[in-house]
Amino acid sequence: MKQFALKGNILFTPNKDEIKFFPNAYVICRRDTCCGIYMTLPDELRNINVIDYGDSLIVPGMTDLHIHAPQYSFRGMGMDCELLDWLNKYAFTEEAKYADTDYAARAYGIFADSMKRSATTRAVIFGTVHREATLILMDLMESAGIVSYVGKVNMDRNAPDDLRESSAAETLKFIRDSAQRKYHLTMPIITPRFIPGCSNSLLDELSEIRRAYDLPVQSHLSENPGEVELVKELMPEAEFYGDAYDRYGLFGREAKTVMAHCVYSSDSETKRIRKNGVWVAHCPNSNMNLASGIAPIRKYIDAGIRVGLGSDVAGGQTESIFRAITDAIQVSKLYWRYIDSSAKPLSFAESFYLATKGGGSFFGNAGSFEQGYEFDALVIDDSIIPHPQMLSLPERLERAIYIGLDKNGITAKYVRGKKIYAKITE
Ligand code: GUN
Ligand code: FE
Repeated sequence: MKQFALKGNILFTPNKDEIKFFPNAYVICRRDTCCGIYMTLPDELRNINVIDYGDSLIVPGMTDLHIHAPQYSFRGMGMDCELLDWLNKYAFTEEAKYADTDYAARAYGIFADSMKRSATTRAVIFGTVHREATLILMDLMESAGIVSYVGKVNMDRNAPDDLRESSAAETLKFIRDSAQRKYHLTMPIITPRFIPGCSNSLLDELSEIRRAYDLPVQSHLSENPGEVELVKELMPEAEFYGDAYDRYGLFGREAKTVMAHCVYSSDSETKRIRKNGVWVAHCPNSNMNLASGIAPIRKYIDAGIRVGLGSDVAGGQTESIFRAITDAIQVSKLYWRYIDSSAKPLSFAESFYLATKGGGSFFGNAGSFEQGYEFDALVIDDSIIPHPQMLSLPERLERAIYIGLDKNGITAKYVRGKKIYAKITE
């Protein structure tokens, strides 16, 4: 049976308020699962293969709960408008190019390679409306070794002609095609882009496909004031934006669902998110770039809502989940200062938890080193930032994340017990 130990300084958050850390310890992987942490190896593990990472930090892999693969090509550009104008001016223009499978293969090759080198071990991904391009994306994510849900986008209104489809027929074919490829790591997800882009009849069709194949759902919710107003006009019968999805069985309950943003969720919407067990993908970098606002994450956490972090590339400028951890803390401080002084800012432990176990829970047992969790790990070499003082392990982790050491400090990355990336050093 395949088993090994990683040796180093091990840190993880079993709950949002506690960073557990073990200096110079061993974390054991058996097959693809975490089997405990030891300060010294017990007799029965005496002969186990030990990979010694010295003084490096070893933490659980991170989940990006919301990212648009086709938008990776224009990340860091076009930050001059709000959501609806931004979609028309930048996102749709770029996404139309993915009708060309050669372009898609090139662009998605770059994306998958970046994901492999990043801190992300699991991701929930939007493709475009194009079935073939989205299957190429799935092939590349599978090869990259990252666990992912990938969605072919659905839109039949409020989009350019070449990005609108009159039915969900291509999505049905996409689901069947992806099943034939027998992926181990890559799964399809039902993806209505957002309510402004989907008619009631399209939602109805998607709902039926979802039920027939028991698939999860990803979409956007209450991101921008203009968008929320548009949803009221387009579906006046809905009690609130989220209810528009819920009427079609696309909002939690038996349908595992993640909704990005939730910046403007009303009390009724928040209650429904909680009641239906919907995950919130908090995307603070995107919310700043598109001037969307600040999501009330403290309120969601206190209400027991499941929350994870998303990069939302290319509303977000980077795929870095280290950056998302930092941004989530920083925007929570602005929220506390400017909007609600009773909403305590997020702590570092809380934001780290959202990036690991919080978002990881969308995949089951992921994002922790507790027994029985799937073995996803990052090895971070922070020796490249010298310091004159003694630092504790949590201090070192906090600094590595704030400084952005995922750019050049990740020396190895494991997903389900397999090493998928190792930095080559002389
Ligand atoms: N809402 C609908 N589509 C999108 C998108 O591509 N990005 C963001 N941030 N919000 C959306
Ligand atoms: Fe998005």
